[in-house]
Amino acid sequence: MTAENQPTQRKILVTSALPYANGDIHIGHLLEYVQTDIWVRFQKSRGHQCFYVCADDTHGTPVMLRAEKEGKTPEAFIQESQAAHEKDFKDALIGFDNYYTTHSQESKELTQSIYLKLKEAGHISSKRINQLYDPEKNMFLPDRFVQGTCPKCKSEDQYGDNCDNCGATYTTTELINPKSAVSGATPITKESEHFFFDLKGFEGFLRDWLSSETLEGTPHVQPEVQNKMNEWLDDLRQWDISRDAPYFGWEIPGEKDKYFYVWLDAPIGYMASFKNLCDKRDDINFDDYWGKDSDAEVYHFIGKDIIYFHTLFWPSVLKGAGYRTPSAVWAHGFVTVNGNKMSKSKGTFIKARTYLEHFRPEFLRYYYAAKLSSRIDDFDLNLEDFVQRVNSDLVGKLVNIASRCAGFITKQFDGKLSDTIIEPELMSEFTEASETLAEHYENRDFGRAVKHIMALADKANAYIANEEPWKLVKNDETKERAHQVCSLGINMFKALTTYLAPVLPELAGKVQDFLKLDTLNWASAQEVLSGHEINKFKPMMQRIDMKQVEAMIEDSKEDLQEEAKLDAPQLDDPIKDEIEFGDFDKIDLRIAKIAKAEHVEGADKLLKLQLDLGQGVTKQVFAGIKSAYNPEDLEGKLTVMVANLAPRKMRFGMSEGMVLAAGPGGKDLWIMNPDEGAQPGMRVK
Ligand code: MSP
Ligand code: ZN
Repeated sequence: MTAENQPTQRKILVTSALPYANGDIHIGHLLEYVQTDIWVRFQKSRGHQCFYVCADDTHGTPVMLRAEKEGKTPEAFIQESQAAHEKDFKDALIGFDNYYTTHSQESKELTQSIYLKLKEAGHISSKRINQLYDPEKNMFLPDRFVQGTCPKCKSEDQYGDNCDNCGATYTTTELINPKSAVSGATPITKESEHFFFDLKGFEGFLRDWLSSETLEGTPHVQPEVQNKMNEWLDDLRQWDISRDAPYFGWEIPGEKDKYFYVWLDAPIGYMASFKNLCDKRDDINFDDYWGKDSDAEVYHFIGKDIIYFHTLFWPSVLKGAGYRTPSAVWAHGFVTVNGNKMSKSKGTFIKARTYLEHFRPEFLRYYYAAKLSSRIDDFDLNLEDFVQRVNSDLVGKLVNIASRCAGFITKQFDGKLSDTIIEPELMSEFTEASETLAEHYENRDFGRAVKHIMALADKANAYIANEEPWKLVKNDETKERAHQVCSLGINMFKALTTYLAPVLPELAGKVQDFLKLDTLNWASAQEVLSGHEINKFKPMMQRIDMKQVEAMIEDSKEDLQEEAKLDAPQLDDPIKDEIEFGDFDKIDLRIAKIAKAEHVEGADKLLKLQLDLGQGVTKQVFAGIKSAYNPEDLEGKLTVMVANLAPRKMRFGMSEGMVLAAGPGGKDLWIMNPDEGAQPGMRVK
């Protein structure tokens, strides 16, 4: 869009893809949230009504199983990850107007009502299909939870429906020797009724949508995406939108034990989050944005891996249910680090949190902005280039302008800028850049905007270097010139930070304080300060170095060792439900000395132990550890026992407690030993 055809105030709703609840935010995700956030901040700074909403994507089998593995309810699990995600986003300066969850009342109501509208309009059908089923876990298995040998190259341990080794694709039912990744059981094929959305019926609509433009005169998708969509449109299928219980999601109304596939409710999460925002404020109306005749703009920023869902399913679902369709869907590429896919073992799979522990959020935001375009190519984060650009551009060029000029203003000129603006032509290069830069931002050509801004920064620095105010200030005749040069420097700096504010909002805030300004929006760049009082300059950004990068890489490696434990094949012995401290506190654990250990006539698993708890207290316990221990080796050892377990009458006598041991059984059984120094009778807590 060009600047001339802009209405005075646009109504814009913007989303980023909803991150899955079962994963931490990493620097790959951040490319998208930073890209979106910059665009949104730009629109707001231009004075438009613009809302940025997002949410956690909480439903589906992976979340359900992950919660189970961690011994939590899915609800508790998703609540924790939402809190973690929100903190990461806040610290990365992502300024959502609302961050919500797909596990909300709004989401449930919208999803169910959209489904019913689609059904009523004849877009839903059902049929019975065969699927792999885990007979131990009693659940249908999504492709990625089935493991087996590739039918083509016979490589083992392949997941799902394609082979990592030879690249073959097949159906999971073709895998040789398939195993459930959940329980290890051999899956069986089982029939079940599934519900389908008639995507094929939307071919005509999609072709129109693809070839038409928005009200604002831009295509609905990028040129690269148009090509992809054209291929897909020749081969549209019915879309399976249902899953069988057990499933963490929303139930399909009118059916028993059927749930909506997570990808149906996920994009509806955009609407649900916005609905939630509308309910919190009285100045926005849901239908103004989502109603069929809405004149608002709706944009989805996404990664290239989820284009199909957003450009085929989503517009069709909206259309079929009687809502407006998106103004545009904008995809970006994937982040690589130093030219390679992010790698857990190399430490380049960097979590947002780990990055933030080592660097300010604005450095990454700047690097992303400096290299982003509106295209969908992958994005390489080269860590040496990152350090170099931050140092040379932000510290060396941008902030340098202010730090070279501000000291003189404060010390020599009572903290007041000159009344005279010299070099008006030079200054107007800075103010007049506004519309070109705005166009770059509008078109998501952030790299071009940054390049232009840095070229201006070079000009400002060259000007100051040439004038040498530090010399001018020493001489009474030229002192006023120094004042004017430094004041111009501050004004150039102000224009540049204004243009960079969408990328560097924290710096912009500091500059606003430094310059004692009430606002710093896009229009502020036009205003040249004269005779204006400013604050003392405080350092705003420090140089960074490769050592910090190396430390971050090291931390990423550590992080992932912990993660790997959680990602390891499913424990068949999951952590139990959470307990309160009070529950734990009821258990009286004591250090006990094994005073005597002996075989028991007729018992093939048990040893009879006399446990000394000190102060003359002894308890008799039958312990199932015969397969792993000789009685002689136990006598005299210290161990840990549950001392207040209700006595149980066993075939061989009373057992008055329990000793603690770990391991699967047989020879692999180990009793607990306290560290040296613990005495019989001491409480373990
Ligand atoms: N939950 C879905 C989206 C549902 S939207 C209705 C999902 N979640 S995700 O957590 O896997 O990804 C969230 C966004 O981050 C997606 O747009 C995805 O493309 C993007 N990225 C995830 N990894 C990325 C990189 N390594 N690089 C750039 N973007 C990446 O997909
Ligand atoms: Zn293969």
